[in-house]
Amino acid sequence: MNVLVLGSGGREHAIAWSIKQSKECGELYVMPGNPGCAQIATCLNGAANDFEAVKEAVLAHNINLVVVGPEEPLVLGLADKFKADSQLKNILFVGPGAAGARLEGSKEFAKEFMNRHNIPTAKFKSFTKSTLEEGKQFLGSMQPPYVLKADGLAAGKGVLILNSLEEACAELESMVGGKFGSASSTVVIEQFLSGIEVSVFILTDGEGYLILPQAKDYKRIGEGDKGLNTGGMGAVSPVPFADELFMQKVEQRIIKPTIEGLKKDGIPYNGFIFLGLICCAGEPYVIEYNVRMGDPETQAVMTRIKSDMLLHLVACAKGELSGQKIEISKEAALAVIAVSEGYPQNYAKGFEIEGNELLSNNTFSGAVKLFHSGTAQKEGRIVTSGGRVLSVVANSVEGEGDLAAKLQECRQKAYSQIDKVSYRGKTYRRDIGEDILKMLESGR
Ligand code: AMP
Ligand code: GLY
Repeated sequence: MNVLVLGSGGREHAIAWSIKQSKECGELYVMPGNPGCAQIATCLNGAANDFEAVKEAVLAHNINLVVVGPEEPLVLGLADKFKADSQLKNILFVGPGAAGARLEGSKEFAKEFMNRHNIPTAKFKSFTKSTLEEGKQFLGSMQPPYVLKADGLAAGKGVLILNSLEEACAELESMVGGKFGSASSTVVIEQFLSGIEVSVFILTDGEGYLILPQAKDYKRIGEGDKGLNTGGMGAVSPVPFADELFMQKVEQRIIKPTIEGLKKDGIPYNGFIFLGLICCAGEPYVIEYNVRMGDPETQAVMTRIKSDMLLHLVACAKGELSGQKIEISKEAALAVIAVSEGYPQNYAKGFEIEGNELLSNNTFSGAVKLFHSGTAQKEGRIVTSGGRVLSVVANSVEGEGDLAAKLQECRQKAYSQIDKVSYRGKTYRRDIGEDILKMLESGR
């Protein structure tokens, strides 16, 4: 089975790694990939969004299966273009068509979908430039904090949470006036939900589904969850409050109605669904749908899947997931991300990364793995090339012991490896997993 993974981050490095573990994996390609991917796969020039470049690669390398990492190519209809192309229509493809990708591509669509199918989520209304005054009145009728969301894709920046009514009205005006371009010509205003967030991932073919390990993401740049939102500074899996009872509720109230809802609406779906959930007093609510895996959650999640991920992906693409079972390790995984100084705002790049042999010869031994995100190869050296630079993922190997002991083990291993990485401006959070350890302690 020759496989092409589309994308260039840590998520794609981790997906490629999980595919590489399979005995069924023939030639593995990543487009465009990164220097980490290049250690386990052949990286191809071209952008994941560029249908012609992807088509050329698929035909030139006899690709049997395409797995899409990021959302943008899906929202732009890459899966539909494959189905409509006589040379590509039989290539196995993991990723929904544009209709399904609207779950992420349009917040308004996602909210209406959830209402239509009785899926628990925050109450909302949406507004445009022509209904601005109604929008301001609606804000006036709500309690702070006010949650404003650009309807379309806004590179993760389209959600504003504001405490003052005045500020919320001004932001609404600026958003419908084009603050995020056409992405914010419609704005969703919704009720603020207070609770703990958890990321739940499924792989579905529109009929059957596998529930992947859940994870907690650390979104803020600073320790103690302070400062600006980032793409994610770390991840932990499993998440103790997402226990069996909670996950049963998620499956019954969210996963099954989502898949049924897609069917009822006539939307075919083959791919991942990332449920951004919030747990309010033990009850799950959907904050958002994504039509892809999360980054950096994937780096932790993939290391806990013991069954053959490539076979799951093939079954997903063929519509044969119903008969499959996923095997998940009882061990914990913890990912720490190293970023460039200044991220998520302006940062410099091009600094040499050194000090850790896992960087260039990642044999993935010792239950510690290093995944590349924003790195580049320059004159034989590995240099920084993005905001999020790399992640170290550690797994516990004890077999016995409680989750707290396993997380301690992961923390010790992940931090001792990330401490060995050096580059100018290296920045990371030292508190990944500490909140969960506190939660576990207080629960005892
Ligand atoms: P989103 O891009 O929809 O994931 O939103 C970004 C972040 O904003 C989420 O991860 C939450 O932390 C927060 N958020 C979004 N919607 C709400 C809400 N209704 N109540 C509270 N927090 C929210
Ligand atoms: N880590 C959150 C995301 O990938 O959207």
